[in-house]
Amino acid sequence: MSRLVLAGVVGIASLSVAVMRAQQQPAQSAAPVSSPTAESARTVENGKKLFEKYGCSDCHGLLGQGAPTSGPRIAPNPLPVAAFIRYVRAPRLQMPPYTTKVVPDQELSDIRAYLVTVPKPAPASFLKP
Ligand code: HEC
Repeated sequence: MSRLVLAGVVGIASLSVAVMRAQQQPAQSAAPVSSPTAESARTVENGKKLFEKYGCSDCHGLLGQGAPTSGPRIAPNPLPVAAFIRYVRAPRLQMPPYTTKVVPDQELSDIRAYLVTVPKPAPASFLKP
């Protein structure tokens, strides 16, 4: 059943967020928990795809964990969304800039939503005998 709902929601993903919110309103009052969950699951899944599609993962790692020579860790605590978007538009050093034409703000927001869900690394003490 929830798969069916998710498939339906994905089907209308091209509509504006405002329209989607309006459509979800009745469903939310009927089942308060399921709609926001489906929406954020979809956002995170989309963000993960885009993170790979735009090559962010090539430099920052699949989990945004970073690598010594290509890019710093950016998960699970990325910059706040406005600063995150601003940075990607105008990086300071080696990172190539991404314009709004290449990656719209909404997609960067989805990418950031994915990064937030990456599990935290184990503490260093975990490695000690
Ligand atoms: C070619 C390698 C490369 C690619 C591709 C790349 N980055 Fe970066 N990124 C870097 C490097 C290196 C830095 C460190 C500072 C700099 O060079 O600007 C960085 C810094 C950042 C920062 C700021 C770091 C901080 O402290 O939070 C963010 C946010 C970021 N990248 C997000 C992204 C996103 C999102 C994408 C994909 C749309 C992406 N990067 C693609 C290499 C890359």
